[in-house]
Amino acid sequence: MKILLIGSGGREHAIARKIAESPKCETIYCVPGNGGTAFEPKCKNIDIKINESSKIVDFCKQNLVDLVVVGPEEPLINGIVDICNAKGIKAFGPSKNAAMLEGSKTFSKEFMKKYGVKTAKYESFTDYSDALSYLEKSEFPIVIKADGLAAGKGVYICEDFNSAKIALEECMVNDVFKGAGKKVVIEEFLQGVEASILSITDGKTIIPFVSAKDHKQIFDGGKGPNTGGMGVVSPNPYVTQEVFNDFCKNIMGKTLEGIKEENFEYKGIIFFGVMITAKGCYLLEYNVRMGDPETQSVLSLMESDFLELIEASLDEKLNKTEVKWRNMYSCNVVLASSGYPGSFKKGLEIDIKEEAKSNVLIAGGVLENGILVTSGGRVLSVIGLGKTLEEARRVAYNNISNVNFEGKYFRNDIGL
Ligand code: AMP
Ligand code: GLY
Repeated sequence: MKILLIGSGGREHAIARKIAESPKCETIYCVPGNGGTAFEPKCKNIDIKINESSKIVDFCKQNLVDLVVVGPEEPLINGIVDICNAKGIKAFGPSKNAAMLEGSKTFSKEFMKKYGVKTAKYESFTDYSDALSYLEKSEFPIVIKADGLAAGKGVYICEDFNSAKIALEECMVNDVFKGAGKKVVIEEFLQGVEASILSITDGKTIIPFVSAKDHKQIFDGGKGPNTGGMGVVSPNPYVTQEVFNDFCKNIMGKTLEGIKEENFEYKGIIFFGVMITAKGCYLLEYNVRMGDPETQSVLSLMESDFLELIEASLDEKLNKTEVKWRNMYSCNVVLASSGYPGSFKKGLEIDIKEEAKSNVLIAGGVLENGILVTSGGRVLSVIGLGKTLEEARRVAYNNISNVNFEGKYFRNDIGL
């Protein structure tokens, strides 16, 4: 099969590496790919941007592409799957209307409420003064969320009325999210530990993947500002059998009922962002794509042929499919540019020793004149696998000395 993979991050490097393992895979066109996919067997980087739908469709036609796989949310929310399908091209991902589960917080909260998916209490507002009077009657902390896509920056945890008022002003008055915060969701604050549960669906069946735990803050101990994710362990040690059963019953099962009832055309990944609290599991959000950096860990544990799984989803055969996992832990430590998530230098040479290459996945790294250099805040992931979490951690951290670029920064406590 010839596959076109949309995206350029660490997630896409992991997807490309995993799909390339399949004997069914002949070529993967990475649109646009990065400095990691550039070196993967069967992969070719193509200079098209992720949102250039008509160029993507033309490329698929000219190169007889069998399947489009979409990494990031933006093209999904813009309807790339519908566009491909209309031209007779198979694409793995939700349709445009189902992708609203990630594209609009109000839409997704209404869906959760309608189908009894356990989630924090909320109200949705389009008028600033209504939202402000609601805050005047609220208890704190409280959570304010921009309705639309805000590059991971649209959620404010507000400790008191004043900080909530500032957040509301940024979203609704100063319009810092360029339209995405004109509408907001204000919701109950939940105390607990988070879990990322990715899953695959064909609209009739959902199969959960092994759970994962992201580490969002920049500093050890969960301190400092949020980032795109500084590391992951999988499975998530907090997802016990009891938690998992609760998730299946109160979140995943109800979500599937909703997908069926709404007749969503959904053959893709659904990612549940879960808060495990003393009162059970609550759904924080849906993502309609794989997580980054969760994917880098989760796919390292997948024994099944991912391409076959994708085909089973497209053929609506997930009810007859089993996903096999290695009985191991995966620890993913992100190496970031010095200064991230603030400003940082780019274009620094990345040196990876030969023996570490199979354990490294590139995120913010590109080829410049044939040399791999940094191009982003989160530069790459170093993966360690082990029979225990401690072993996986040890393997990952030992590997870090085999990877160098000026100012590499990482957390020391991933999985601790
Ligand atoms: P979201 O994009 O909705 O997942 O929110 C981003 C992050 O904000 C989550 O991963 C949580 O860390 C935090 N968060 C979101 N909603 C809540 C909530 N209701 N209570 C506490 N923390 C939250
Ligand atoms: N790691 C969280 C996300 O991909 O949204």
